Amino acid sequence: MTISTEIQKMIANRRKGYSLEAPFYLNQDIFDLDIAAIFSQHWIYVAVEPDIAEPGDYITVEVGKNSVIIVRDDDMNIKAFHNVCRHRGSQLCDDEKGSVGNLVCPYHQWTYDLTGKLIHTEHMGEAFNPNDHSLKSVHVGNVAGLIFICLADEPPEDFEAMQKAMEPYIAPHHVADCKIIWQEDIIENGNWKLTMENNRECYHCVANHPELTSSIFEYGFGYQPSAANAEKVNEFFELIKTESSRWESCGLASAEIDLLESCATGYRTQRLPLIGAGESQTMDSKVACKKLLGELTQRNLGGLSFWTQPNSWHHFMSDHIVTISAMPVDATHTMLRTKWLVHKDAVEGVDYDIKRITEVWQATNKQDSNLVERTQRGANSKWYEPGPYSPYTEDLVEKFTNWYIQRLEATIQKPEFIAKQANANSRAVPIKVCR
Ligand code: FES
Ligand SMILES: [Fe+2]
Repeated sequence: MTISTEIQKMIANRRKGYSLEAPFYLNQDIFDLDIAAIFSQHWIYVAVEPDIAEPGDYITVEVGKNSVIIVRDDDMNIKAFHNVCRHRGSQLCDDEKGSVGNLVCPYHQWTYDLTGKLIHTEHMGEAFNPNDHSLKSVHVGNVAGLIFICLADEPPEDFEAMQKAMEPYIAPHHVADCKIIWQEDIIENGNWKLTMENNRECYHCVANHPELTSSIFEYGFGYQPSAANAEKVNEFFELIKTESSRWESCGLASAEIDLLESCATGYRTQRLPLIGAGESQTMDSKVACKKLLGELTQRNLGGLSFWTQPNSWHHFMSDHIVTISAMPVDATHTMLRTKWLVHKDAVEGVDYDIKRITEVWQATNKQDSNLVERTQRGANSKWYEPGPYSPYTEDLVEKFTNWYIQRLEATIQKPEFIAKQANANSRAVPIKVCR
């Protein structure tokens, strides 16, 4: 992959306050650059601790063409490795999820323990040193039970600051003491940035999400008062103040943090009031699981939202958690993975009903996928041109695209990135076939 001057020009000439030029949603070179400069250089949200609750539990995730194994070792540490055998490179684990004693390559049975150490081979001779052939590790980060990975040699250092800041917000929900009761994977017919941009505004919510807006106020997601709705938005901001002081007095961190644009590990969080009973993101805004999370005793804690660049958003209520990641598949497809979690001791049919817990976000995801697809279709047309963001409702979309462009620029200018690309290009020599 080379970074063409056209791409560099487009990045440099981007019109601020406007959506991106069409090639950012279509072009294969830009998609490859997104994988190399964004998804391989930043912290990516991939899983929750309950995905790998026991030693030997693993999951695999695909970051572009690179597969990564995330596994719980015998000492309960979380490790991540490139899913590539150190013998002749066979992929080790094929399934998205499983449980193993050791990691055994299906090809010639080279066997690695759960720390990635090569512990068994046959027929390799005296000179062979297994210590030189451990699995290649990937950086792992844990934010109060949410698992992130970073494929870069040197990951952005500000991850630790996010971890520290988010701990008091998420910890009361005890993610590690939850179980996943439902997972839904959707392949959206759109570029990953369209999935993210759609997530970063609620301009579309009232017209498109009847289920979601039965419990959430759209004003909590990037709204500023405009002439049309100043009274309602200001009323909502007042409600946030009252509810936040109640939540803070119960020891729950609630205040807004917005570092979506200014940090390499960009994120935003805020605990937001809900409509009606104010308990949960359900059809009647009441809890859908009788057993509350962690040691929480109050139901009406609103919804704690947490958004990360480049690929996730999460909602923590008193009774359940909804956690969503977006992973690029190709230039015009994205995998949206949603998990619903409740307390691990909650009993289905007694404490909760899966349909009641999942129906709001299942409907919302379907509606959002449709919106992403129709935007992709628009971007495919030669008549598409970048359009202006609403200054009152699309501030967070602009922060996403600004973050993306800044990070792309910052990464492709790094000497080590340029050297790596040059190296990759020099290896990609055309194959000559001798006849
Ligand atoms: S490629 Fe894995 S053991 Fe041979
Ligand atoms: Fe939406």
